[in-house]
Amino acid sequence: MKSVLTSEDYKEAYRPQYHFSPQDKWMNDPNGLVYHQGIYHLFYQYYPDDIVWGPMHWGHATSTDMLHWTHKPIALFPDKHGYIFSGSAVVDRNNTSGLGTADTPPLVAVFTYHDAEGEKEGRTDFQTQGIAYSLDNGDTWTKHEGNPVIGNEGIKDFRDPKVFWNHIAEQWTMLLVAGDHLQIWNSHDLIRWKKESEFGKEQGAHGGVWECPDLFPLTVEGTDMEKWVLLISINPGAPNGGSGTQYFIGDFDGTTFSSDQKEDRWLDWGTDNYAGVTYNHAPKGDRIFIGWMSNWDYARDTPTERWRSAMTVPRNLSLKQTGKEYSLFNYPLKNFDTLIQKSPRREITLTANESERILSENFNQTAIRFTTTARDFELSFKNKLNEHLRLTMDGDRKMFSLDRTQSGKTDFKEEFGNKVHQMPIESLPDGPYEVMILLDWSSVEVFINQGQYVMTAQLFPSEPYEILEVENTSAKAMDFIDFEISGIKSIW
Ligand code: FRU
Repeated sequence: MKSVLTSEDYKEAYRPQYHFSPQDKWMNDPNGLVYHQGIYHLFYQYYPDDIVWGPMHWGHATSTDMLHWTHKPIALFPDKHGYIFSGSAVVDRNNTSGLGTADTPPLVAVFTYHDAEGEKEGRTDFQTQGIAYSLDNGDTWTKHEGNPVIGNEGIKDFRDPKVFWNHIAEQWTMLLVAGDHLQIWNSHDLIRWKKESEFGKEQGAHGGVWECPDLFPLTVEGTDMEKWVLLISINPGAPNGGSGTQYFIGDFDGTTFSSDQKEDRWLDWGTDNYAGVTYNHAPKGDRIFIGWMSNWDYARDTPTERWRSAMTVPRNLSLKQTGKEYSLFNYPLKNFDTLIQKSPRREITLTANESERILSENFNQTAIRFTTTARDFELSFKNKLNEHLRLTMDGDRKMFSLDRTQSGKTDFKEEFGNKVHQMPIESLPDGPYEVMILLDWSSVEVFINQGQYVMTAQLFPSEPYEILEVENTSAKAMDFIDFEISGIKSIW
């Protein structure tokens, strides 16, 4: 794999221009998100021989700004214990593992071994946890000779370790999912682990298997109240079908997570944000999230040829008070703004049921932003073939919907285009709120009220969208303040 791209690369049909995608072949979950010595690492589930899922490796890319990425050689290859499934990475600053030295603390990757042979034989103990270390900031990796470090006593789905330094217990904590619940394990050295607790058998959504956990503290904005947030991906069972990410707000005492949350809550209501987790050791305590922009319902069928799938834009997670409760917000990092080309803002006023047409060469690499108090409007992006993406805010139903049923190529898999995706909008502030829409060549991300309500979806228009129709669907006049349509620079 080349580590430096030339400008001819990354120009294929549907190639995302400001989202991370592998140069070639199949990718799924982000793995090993860790910041060390000025470098943000992005490892990912990777199959280098095909554009469908296969024996998993960890692909690798690095960034210094979380905008531009450099491709690196494959970090982890399958071995006698199995494929390398999802996991995380930490900087073992005090060399607690003994895998580095005091002067060269190791980067330690923690992952699931998936023994495909064992699975075929009908065993239930085919997923175990292993570790590997790097002494050159992620360039080369050595597997630990004592692998696996956690075996399996017969849990069929036992995977996706997220490890972090636990300041409360002064130990390492590993989160693991075990079918329908979370397990929490602690360790002093990243090698010998003790199971401490479980969470979730009777809480949250259970329409599918639990995957890719994450747990971290956040301070509720404007207060000094700290709460812990647990992310759990679930497949199937997401609100709009297939794969999705739920979250719980609660407390963690160093060994046990608890939450009195009653309802299911979703980080993103779109169909294409899965297996997302956050960075370890990010500067300034930032909580940076990246998700895989696809869905197991149709991930293997999307119409790209050289590579398959991309990551969401990196997003900052925060907790805010919304009405009587706290909510998890996710919104692009501040510096994403530097990719947005400045363009004039204007005000759009629409009388009852009026609409306005805006033309552009293409809307497929564009940020659309505005502020409004309106609750009843529709935005349609269209091309000459009358393919369209429709975004609708419906104040009466308190519902935002994303309709990609006629957005372009949809017939590669029934589940892709067979329904309109819905997002209940229950507690927007009374006053003006922001809407930001990021369109790339094969995706749309919608952020309402700076990440309170979010939808992410893949799209495959046969031609670029050239028309944007903004429609007032109410009987009252409405204003869109600071309406801005701006190109987004390519990161490749
Ligand atoms: C989530 C997932 C993980 C697993 C990986 C395998 O998308 O199913 O649970 O570790 O993908 O590639």
